Amino acid sequence: MSKVRLGVLISGNGSNLQALIDACRMPDFPAEIVLVISNKADAYGLTRAKQAGIQALVVDHKAYASREAFDAALHEALVAQRVQLVCLAGFMRLLSPGFVEKWPRKMINIHPSLLPKFKGAHAIRDALAAGEEVTGCTVHYVVAEMDAGEIILQEQVAIHPGDALDSLAERVHAAEHRIYVEAVRRLASLPAQYH
Ligand code: GRF
Repeated sequence: MSKVRLGVLISGNGSNLQALIDACRMPDFPAEIVLVISNKADAYGLTRAKQAGIQALVVDHKAYASREAFDAALHEALVAQRVQLVCLAGFMRLLSPGFVEKWPRKMINIHPSLLPKFKGAHAIRDALAAGEEVTGCTVHYVVAEMDAGEIILQEQVAIHPGDALDSLAERVHAAEHRIYVEAVRRLASLPAQYH
């Protein structure tokens, strides 16, 4: 059976991208990364993509007059590579409703909290500051409202007494890498959804 073609959108380090790259190296993994797009030219994830021999593009949002024009450039690049499932992996731009509607149940995101708790860009810090005993991470479908799409998979991470942001973030990221790979495996194993 042919593999589901992934497009991964990043803005930074790309450790989740790396987890997907590593998984896709396994012969029985049902997906392959055909394109990585970063909105930032200095994202380390671009280096990871190049090292893995994956086509990587910079689409700089600052070069576009509007969010819609930027999103149209993203869409064009994804379609040109016949991407079937879009994976947001630390992609720090809000996507317009028009773009999101073009990828219904075909675009997913990894978020570092147990959604619906702690939406937004500082979820690990916010969970720690709230004095929670447990946080975690979530893979969800992307809808127009930020961090609000249907949940696909979650993993809990205990917050230890004395945890600092770094120590907690390290465990949350390790959990992210596990569930993002597992979510892609599950979705890509239902190829009728993508072909
Ligand atoms: C992760 O914590 C992810 O949940 C959030 O952004 C971070 C990206 O990290 N959306 P990386 O670039 O994958 O290392």
